[in-house]
Order: sequence, then C-alpha cells, then structure tokens
Amino acid sequence: MNPASASQTKNPKKAPSANHSSGDKRFKMLDATIKRYQYQQDALIEILHKAQELFGFLETDVLLYVAHSLKLPPSRVYGVATFYHLFSLAPSGVHTCVVCTGTACYVKGSQTILTELEKSENIRAGETTSDGQVSLLTARCLGACGIAPAVVFDGTVLGNQTAESVCEWLRITH
Ligand code: FES
Repeated sequence: MNPASASQTKNPKKAPSANHSSGDKRFKMLDATIKRYQYQQDALIEILHKAQELFGFLETDVLLYVAHSLKLPPSRVYGVATFYHLFSLAPSGVHTCVVCTGTACYVKGSQTILTELEKSENIRAGETTSDGQVSLLTARCLGACGIAPAVVFDGTVLGNQTAESVCEWLRITH
C-alpha cells in the first residue's frame, strides 16, 4: 500500500476528492459510496455501477474522478468501463435528458415526466431518438431531493420539473 492510500484508510472521514470543483452533489454521493467500500480498488465495478446510477452514464470526468479516488490508473478504469456492457460511456444523442427516479422524485411525479418524455420522443429510457438528437436516461437520486422532481438537461440540474416544462426544454433545443 502506498503512503497516500494508507493515510486515507487511517482517516476515512477525509475523502481525497470530496470537493469536486463542479459543486455537483452527485460527486459527494459517489464519495460516500467510495468511502463505504473503503477505497478498495477491488470494488471498482460496484463503484462504477453506483456512478452510472447517479449520472446516467459514465462520462470522462466521472471515470477520472473514480480513478483518482481509488488511486488506479485511468486506463484500468476505462478498460473495465468499456469491457462490461452494463456500462455506458456516453449517450449518443446531441442532447441528454436524465430523469431522476429516486424516491423523492418518484413521490413528486418523476414517473409521469418519464412516461410523457417517452411518449413525446417515441423512445424508451436508455434510448436515443432516431434523429440522434436526444438521449433519455434515468438516474437514482441526483442529490437534489429538495427540488424534486429533478431532471438534468445537458448537464444542468433543473428542479421542480413537470412533464410540460421538460418537454418545453426539448422543444426549444431541437
Ligand atoms: S431522489 Fe431525485 S434528486 Fe434525490
């Protein structure tokens, strides 16, 4: 074990990367999972699984973040993420709409938002429209429960959404 990881194990309260510069709360939630696995490199798949649950897909920033947190070479993290079909590295659409289906959002109607989007875009969650414009994804808790139901549209977290407001966003952009 190198000295850096030894000090993390001794002081698990101090996550090495708890303050992601973006301020995106999902990174804090990812930190909590990494901490729960005690920064074990063997838990890479479980941690990537959680990351995909939180972000909808594994963008480069997230993969690098995991690599840094676990003190793994990015190439190893990329290798694992690309090897398993359950991981998706990028949505293929020009625009990305991630609907939170976590408990707080579910209670406030996220399922209706998702159903309406599926109808209006004629796709199911996890798919991209035939014109390649919109990828529709789901995530479990974006860390924004206070503004549920939350949707991330092209990387921006939007709170208190309705089916109408999300469909309007889509109408404006494509
Ligand atoms: S459940 Fe949707 S943001 Fe937490």
